[in-house]
Amino acid sequence: MRSIRGFAQSMVSRAHTLKTKLFPPPPQLEPVERVVVTARAERTRREAQQYFATPERKGLLECVVSSISTGADLTDYYVLHHYIVTRRPRRILELGSGVTSVIMAHALREVAEADPSRPPGHLETMEDLPAFHADAQRLCSPALRPFVTYSLSGLHMERKGQLWMFCYVSLPPGPFDLVFVDGPLAKRDGKTGVNGDVLRLMELAPDAALDVVIDNRLPTCIGLAPYFPERLLVFDQALRIGCMRGMSGRALRAQPARSRPLPDVDVFEHLGIKRWDNGAPTLGA
Ligand SMILES: C[S@@+](CC[C@H](N)C(=O)[O-])C[C@H]1O[C@@H](n2cnc3c(N)ncnc32)[C@H](O)[C@@H]1O
Repeated sequence: MRSIRGFAQSMVSRAHTLKTKLFPPPPQLEPVERVVVTARAERTRREAQQYFATPERKGLLECVVSSISTGADLTDYYVLHHYIVTRRPRRILELGSGVTSVIMAHALREVAEADPSRPPGHLETMEDLPAFHADAQRLCSPALRPFVTYSLSGLHMERKGQLWMFCYVSLPPGPFDLVFVDGPLAKRDGKTGVNGDVLRLMELAPDAALDVVIDNRLPTCIGLAPYFPERLLVFDQALRIGCMRGMSGRALRAQPARSRPLPDVDVFEHLGIKRWDNGAPTLGA
């Protein structure tokens, strides 16, 4: 008869095999690729430091130190802020509120102040944990409040193929131009899941072309990749950000899915935005 220890070891090994099958490790980088990725990460970090040192953005990052929430980092803030200032999305949805909500609200205000004739953009941000919902709102200054709506919502968990998909129950009505996926936590009620809201949004508003940024959630990127055509969903290995440009649910239905493994592509290149060039005007570039 097998010992309890042997049984436990075999269960651990089976769980490991299943996990590896569901979430295969990202493709290993060749040494040369690693050098390129590291250089890209360092370059982006330097750009981000300069980006947030400009007079209009100085002080914006102070909210980071007082937040109880952990999450995105400086280069993520740069990607999100710069994306909004250059592409000027009207409706943004964030999944997982926190410092990033303030960063995006600030970018929306920058756009609105630069061109008051345009209707201002708005951020809807979702959170499922009350403590982080309260903390996220505390971080937001009164001047930025008109640009963001904070919502607390429970989670809905559904099985899709071999994956658990976690979705926020009460998503605000879309359509959205940009979705930033940074929540919910990957483990809930003993289940490990990936965010399923992007697929849901594409069903709810099939004609809306959606840009998607996914922060450091490789399992979500790997779990979603098979639903999309080749090279649509990519993962920037330097910044640890997944992204997808301009996909609608209707276009998706017309194209063959399956993209595995995730290609490493510069997030700026994939989203079609120029990197910030210190001194050059970027608004609406
Ligand atoms: C990675 S956080 C993202 C927060 C926000 N997007 C940001 O980067 O500022 C994702 C989710 O994890 C949860 N969370 C945040 N900070 C946490 C912490 N320190 N410990 C446990 N969960 C946390 C919250 O529910 C949040 O929505």
